[in-house]
Amino acid sequence: MTTAPLIGNPVQHDAGFAGFRGLTLLRGEGSFVTDSCGKRFFDGTSMYGVASLGHGHAGLAAALSTQAQTLISCFGSFANNRRTELQLRLTNLLSPLDRIFLCNSGTEAVEAAIKMARATTGRSQTVALTGAFHGRTLGALSATFRGLHRDAFGPLVTGFTHVRPGDLEALDAALSDQVALFLFEPVQGEGGVKIIDSNYLLEAQRICRERGILFVADEVQTGIGRTGLMFGYQHADLEPDVVCLAKGLGGGVPIGAVAFRGEQVNLNGGSHGSTFGGNPLSCAAALAVLETLEREGLVAHVAELGDRLLRRFERSLRDCKEVRAVRGIGFMIGIELSVASAPLQRALQERGFLTLGAGPRVLRLLPPLNSTWPELEDLAEAICQELLQ
Ligand SMILES: Cc1ncc(COP(=O)(O)O)c(C=O)c1O
Repeated sequence: MTTAPLIGNPVQHDAGFAGFRGLTLLRGEGSFVTDSCGKRFFDGTSMYGVASLGHGHAGLAAALSTQAQTLISCFGSFANNRRTELQLRLTNLLSPLDRIFLCNSGTEAVEAAIKMARATTGRSQTVALTGAFHGRTLGALSATFRGLHRDAFGPLVTGFTHVRPGDLEALDAALSDQVALFLFEPVQGEGGVKIIDSNYLLEAQRICRERGILFVADEVQTGIGRTGLMFGYQHADLEPDVVCLAKGLGGGVPIGAVAFRGEQVNLNGGSHGSTFGGNPLSCAAALAVLETLEREGLVAHVAELGDRLLRRFERSLRDCKEVRAVRGIGFMIGIELSVASAPLQRALQERGFLTLGAGPRVLRLLPPLNSTWPELEDLAEAICQELLQ
């Protein structure tokens, strides 16, 4: 029996697309992960927002184990009790949206939403926002804004326009009668943790309704409690026609979902689908996540502690010359610097704290939704010490 983990060269055969951070993570417990040297790190990333319940969560593990021994695969043309339960739960949360398409990732959810909007409206154009990140498959990538993600892969899908959030004139001009959907993140994550103004989104929704355009919320990062409400659009009292989910929904298990209204969206049977989508294993994971959030009151916990954390940074970093802005909502916090954030991320990693970037100059925090105040306070103290030294 092996007593020590067998580890080859971790970069030798990896595609290398993600950029290696120099750690091999072997296990996790709560908000912490442990690397191959036995060093523990607070996971202020939730692995890009997916580990919503942290790592090694007993309830999630038990749900997966039970389901794995019961039924893992069940193609969409057969019903399954776990899938039906999950769809019921999601439609209760997202009412009046009453239909759920299940897939495996955020980009697939966005891709499905674009196709649904095109098929429903008979129009081909998509309007998205500058700064947007919607995924990396070609349709979703065409809605993504940043050159770093797009430039090597042209020509992208035609019919995508980006307008600057807040510019109502540009919005009005862009939302023509050729537009199938307006696609937005309530808070842009990858784009720098930027909260999109509620009045702007309400006006976009009004124009969409008036012109028969589907109003589509990409809640892949903001959804499932991340912002201190179950969905980010609820902060602005919006009523999206379509909602895309992924990341935190599965607690680390791959799943994506698109919610819509059956009477509004038309897609012929067989015209879209996913082999793995809606498999009972990922549905069991999502059910365990949703049940845990509800039972433990974690969405309110995120709202309260997120606000406290934001105020802690505002207070402590007020006079820091390198800090341009502190912003965010719930457990989605960005610290915009006047310099690149990568050296700060590296210094924090050295000290045992994993954090993310959001664009070149924003430090992004996406801790697990069940992180405690002492854990968050330790993270905040380390960040402030690094920035104020
Ligand atoms: C808002 C948003 N949409 C879509 C995606 C794509 O999700 P995935 O990486 O699961 O394809 C992401 C991923 O970061 C995201 O943040």
